[in-house]
Amino acid sequence: MYLLAAASLLSLNVKIASAELAGHGGPVRALAISADGKRAVSGSFDTSVILWSLATESAEQVLRFHADAVNAAIFLPDGRIATAGADARIAIWTVGRQQPDQVLQGHHAPIAGLAVSPDGSMLASASWDSTVRLWSLRSGISRLLEGHSQNVNGVAFTPDGLSVVSVGYDLTARIWPLKEGPPEVVGLASPLNAVAVAPDGDIVTGGADGWVRLLNPAGKPGGAIQAAAAPIVALAISADAGLIAAAAIDGTVSIIDRKARVVSRALSGGPRVWSVAFLPHDATLLTGGADGVIRQWNALTGEALGSPLKGTQADPLAMYSGERGAEIFRACVACHTLSDKETPRAGPSLAGLFGRRIASLPGYRFSDALKDMNIVWTPETVSKLFEVGPNTYTPGTRMPEQRISSPDERKALTDFLAHATRR
Ligand code: HEC
Repeated sequence: MYLLAAASLLSLNVKIASAELAGHGGPVRALAISADGKRAVSGSFDTSVILWSLATESAEQVLRFHADAVNAAIFLPDGRIATAGADARIAIWTVGRQQPDQVLQGHHAPIAGLAVSPDGSMLASASWDSTVRLWSLRSGISRLLEGHSQNVNGVAFTPDGLSVVSVGYDLTARIWPLKEGPPEVVGLASPLNAVAVAPDGDIVTGGADGWVRLLNPAGKPGGAIQAAAAPIVALAISADAGLIAAAAIDGTVSIIDRKARVVSRALSGGPRVWSVAFLPHDATLLTGGADGVIRQWNALTGEALGSPLKGTQADPLAMYSGERGAEIFRACVACHTLSDKETPRAGPSLAGLFGRRIASLPGYRFSDALKDMNIVWTPETVSKLFEVGPNTYTPGTRMPEQRISSPDERKALTDFLAHATRR
C-alpha cells in the first residue's frame, strides 16, 4: 500500500535540504532517542527500522526483520533496541548485529506500543488483540493482562516500575499493579490512541477526539487540553517534564505547557507527523513524517532546526550543487558515500560502483540473499533497481523500498553516479 506513496515521495524528498534524516520509504510511525541523546531509532510502515547517529545525522544501520509495518521502537537501558509492529512480533537487537538476538511471540494481532521497565528487566506490549503482555527480558516468558475490550494502542511503565498503564479504543486507561490486585480502570470520553507517563507519575493520554487528558498517578482526572481537531496519534514528554508534544492525524503538532495546561504553540510547515520524541537534554523535538523524513524542531520557539551538518561538516553534495542527479542522490546520501575517503554509512560505499558485482565490496556485510545474485552494477541495472524497487529487483535486501518512477530522474541519477563514484 505504501509502495506507491514511496515512489512519488522520493522526488519530494530530494528537494529537502540536509536538515533532515531521510532514509525511510514510508511514514515514520515510531521514534525514540537513546538516553545519552547520541542516537535515534525509527520504525516505518516500510517495515524497516533505522538506527541513526544524531551527531553525524546519518543512518548507521538498517534493521530488517519485521514482515509488516513497524509501529514501535524503543531503546532499552542497556543500549539494545526493541521493535514491534503489525506482524505481532517483538524483536530485541544488539546494535551492530544484523539479526535480532531475541524474538518474542505471543500476540495475535498488530502490536501498537512498547515500553520498558525502568530497571530494564521487563517489556510491556500493547496489541490490537485487546491485551497487554508483560515480558521478562531474561526468560522471554510473558504474562497476559486481559480486560480491555478493544484494540490496546499504548502502554507505559510508571516511574517507580510498580505499575503499567495502558490505553485503548474502549475509552479506558488502565493502571495495572504488577505485584497483585485488579487494575484501576479509568473511563474517558474518547477512544485513546497514545499514552505517556511523566517522571512524577502523571499520566498523559491522547484521544481520538483531539484532546489530551491528564490523570494523576492514582488515575484521578487532572485536566484536559484540546490539542487538535483530529485524532492524536503520538505523544511525548520533554525531559524536564514541562512540555508535552501531541501529534494529530491532520498534521497538527501541538506543544502543551504541562503546568499551565495550555497549548503554547503549534509546529507547522512539515508534512503529517506519525511519531514524536524529545532529546534528553533540551527542548529539541524530533518528528517522524508521513513522507519518511525525520525533522528537528525547537519546541520552545516552534522553529524548524537546521542541520548541524551545515555548521560543523560540509554538505557531502555541496560540490555537485546545481546538478539534477545530485539532488536525486539526496535520497541516498544518508546511507551511501560516493568515495572511499568518507566515513562509511549504513549502506555500502558506492565508490567504484559501475562494473562492480552485487554484494562484492570488501569489508561490508551484505545480506546473504544478495551474494548469490547475478547482477553487475551498470547504469542500466541501477536504473532497473529503482524502476521496480529494491525488494523486487534484489529480494531480501536491507535497503528500504523506494522507487524512482520517472525515467528522466533515473537517467539523471545514473549520469551523476557515473562520474561521482569513479575512482
Ligand atoms: C536507509 C538506507 C539506504 C538508503 C536511503 C539507500 N540505500 Fe542503497 N543500500 C542500503 C543498504 C543497507 C544496502 C545493502 C543491502 C544489503 O546488503 O542487504 C544498499 C545497497 C545498495 C546498492 C547495491 C550495492 C552493492 O555493492 O551491491 C546500490 C547500487 C544502492 N544501494 C544504491 C542506492 C541509491 C542510488 C539510493 C538512493 C536512490 C539508495 N541506495 C538509498 C541502504 C540504503
